[in-house]
Amino acid sequence: MNDIGLLGLGVMGQSLALNIANKGYNVSVFNITSDLTRTFMETRAKDRNIFPFYDIKSFVESLSKPRKIFLMIVAGQPVDEMIQKLIPYLDKGDLIIDGGNSYYKDTTRRLKELKEKGILYLGVGVSGGESGALNGPSLMPGGTIEAYDLVKDILLKISAQTESGPCCAYVGNDSAGHFVKMLHNGIEYGMMQAISEVYDILRKVLKLSTNEIAEIFEEWNRGELNSFLIEISHKLMRHIDKSTGKPTLELILDKAGQKGTGKWTAEAALELGIPTPSLNAAVEGRIITFFKEDRTKLSRKIQKKYPDLTLDKEKIIEELKNALLFSNFILFSQGLWLMSEASKVYGYNIRISDVLKIWKGGCIIRAKMLDFYREIVDEKDDNSNLLNNEKSIKFLMEKIESVKYITNVAREYYIPMLIHNTALDYFLSMTEENLPANLIQAQRDFFGAHTYSRIDMEGTFHTIWE
Ligand code: 6PG
Repeated sequence: MNDIGLLGLGVMGQSLALNIANKGYNVSVFNITSDLTRTFMETRAKDRNIFPFYDIKSFVESLSKPRKIFLMIVAGQPVDEMIQKLIPYLDKGDLIIDGGNSYYKDTTRRLKELKEKGILYLGVGVSGGESGALNGPSLMPGGTIEAYDLVKDILLKISAQTESGPCCAYVGNDSAGHFVKMLHNGIEYGMMQAISEVYDILRKVLKLSTNEIAEIFEEWNRGELNSFLIEISHKLMRHIDKSTGKPTLELILDKAGQKGTGKWTAEAALELGIPTPSLNAAVEGRIITFFKEDRTKLSRKIQKKYPDLTLDKEKIIEELKNALLFSNFILFSQGLWLMSEASKVYGYNIRISDVLKIWKGGCIIRAKMLDFYREIVDEKDDNSNLLNNEKSIKFLMEKIESVKYITNVAREYYIPMLIHNTALDYFLSMTEENLPANLIQAQRDFFGAHTYSRIDMEGTFHTIWE
């Protein structure tokens, strides 16, 4: 009898199966198309403790009880279909683990449906791409503790290991695992957009070559900005396209794809009423890129009047570094506040400090600064908002002049900076006692008798304005 079954042999599934087998477990594998299983067995899985099955029944029957089945298939409808195919062969107490980027509300529904049948279910966020899955991903398991305990040992062993421990911990009840993974991706979108904005200034204002920008990013990666995304950015900038001899990056069309997790994050924020303008802007940023033809046409219609500025290259590079640190902090701050609210509303009971620990390695948003965010979270009982801390305010105020400077430079050169601008405006809004919402309230009351509150009296008021 094998220890665990892995269903779905796409790149992520194959890598995860190899990772589990490398840790000494016997793994049964199954894929809906048998050819892929055969190829996998003849190549990457050759001579490993990986055992192929070509029908669901024998795959399930090959597993020791309670059975543990890791689904690594495309999120959405395929997960529901596969669960239906598995159910007839499962017994009470068996466990299905969904390692895809499933929508958290689907996970809540599946948990409920399977609970009625006595089948355990875990929604596990898996981050780190193909190499993470093979060498150690960041794992965000959510569901019941009972379900987690069944696979805890395997998950801890296969996850990335850092000086703070394994990058896997039980994140919370119900669909907490997939909610946390969705938020990871929301922050991922934001960090990627922020880095791209900085790259844009370096190439368009300072007119640096891709290789020169790679050097700056490499230098940044040695300091506070150390992170997976900065690291891969400088590496990819050095890749040369063989047919043209140019940096490959310069040949890539500026239309960013997306599979929906960033959009779900923005939707969740709107639904829960938590302000996440920078996370939302990252999604909008990607959507705008898609309108390449419109952008091209419109760009020919505007006349840009470039300023006559003397540019201090070293200063701009230093300010950009600080601006990136500021906006990254704000992205995490918005994301963690949303996580904390979801935890309360959905009863997830998420330990934010643990989430920051498991994001420290293996995942796409891993960064040196996570230690600082965790320190802040650990300092107070109510860790719902990173801004509610002296250290946070000090950190951001030390960098605010850089963000103001950089966003001004960007404007002078007609360069959009959706993340940096929203991060600054978010910070200014959240730290402003008097916002002009009094006017909005008066307008609402004027046209719709929506009433308003006053600063000098208790109660609800309405005015006949004309
Ligand atoms: C990860 C990534 C991974 C995937 C993204 C890409 O954590 O390993 O987030 O899940 O690469 O979902 O998402 P987009 O296609 O939406 O950019």
